[in-house]
Amino acid sequence: MTTVDIGEVHVWTARAPAEIANRHSLERVLSETEKTAASRFYFERHRLSYIFSHAALRNILSGYIDRRPEELQFGQNSFGKPHLIGAGAADTLNFNMSHSGDVVLVGVTRERLIGIDVEMVRPMKDFASIARLNFTPEECAFIENATGAQQYAFFKSWARKEAVIKAVGKGLSMPLNTFDASIPPDEEGRRLTLPADAPEIESWWLTDLGVPEGYVGAVVVEQSLAALVYKTWQPSLL
Ligand SMILES: CC(C)(COP(=O)(O)OP(=O)(O)OC[C@H]1O[C@@H](n2cnc3c(N)ncnc32)[C@H](O)[C@@H]1OP(=O)(O)O)[C@@H](O)C(=O)NCCC(=O)NCCS
Repeated sequence: MTTVDIGEVHVWTARAPAEIANRHSLERVLSETEKTAASRFYFERHRLSYIFSHAALRNILSGYIDRRPEELQFGQNSFGKPHLIGAGAADTLNFNMSHSGDVVLVGVTRERLIGIDVEMVRPMKDFASIARLNFTPEECAFIENATGAQQYAFFKSWARKEAVIKAVGKGLSMPLNTFDASIPPDEEGRRLTLPADAPEIESWWLTDLGVPEGYVGAVVVEQSLAALVYKTWQPSLL
């Protein structure tokens, strides 16, 4: 069984293959609710992406608790943030998932809330006006100063902000321009305090993640970060 210590963050990366040969074995572990959610996607690629990410999530989490992937049960808060329900280690295990392009990230912690985000760096014509509306002056300055790499800097800031709102778990009810998620250029991460939206949490730690080329990622964990441990999940492990 895999164990994660308090303060550690395990960051799992899974990449959906272009052709999914074992679709049935992926689908087999999903709940009826997940199968219904998958069937509602109009495009097959979105359906497969959902099936792959949820199968990956179930397989990864089952490694931490004494349950088969298909036995895991999830609840969610009123903003849709999922959590494990059930007896035993599920009570103390926290996780968050993000998918973009063919990359799935799953962050796992014990007794610490977590938010994770991955973004594929992609062309976006109006990124400057999105930044002006949603980002703080520090975040805008980070993008403006990234000569020749502004698109990349934009998505980096976006991933950091998303990781914050996903850690707090309140979605976009937490206005993006009300908090700063910039990281000083010479620092690996930084402490955040967000008392208004998560009054019971004293502080959070934000850091960028090492993700596949062409992507950016960030994670936010309650309190502090003792160690970041990278792991890879392969569909052949099914
Ligand atoms: C869930 C949310 C927080 C992020 O969604 P996203 O970035 O589109 O998608 P991600 O792949 O990173 O995360 C989705 C996963 O997060 C989890 N999730 C769902 N609601 C969540 C919440 N309130 N808090 C944390 N995690 C949540 C789920 O596991 C979900 O997976 P699923 O959709 O396959 O079930 C959503 O509220 C949202 O739409 N965010 C705003 C997107 C945006 O416009 N950002 C602009 C930034 S400048």
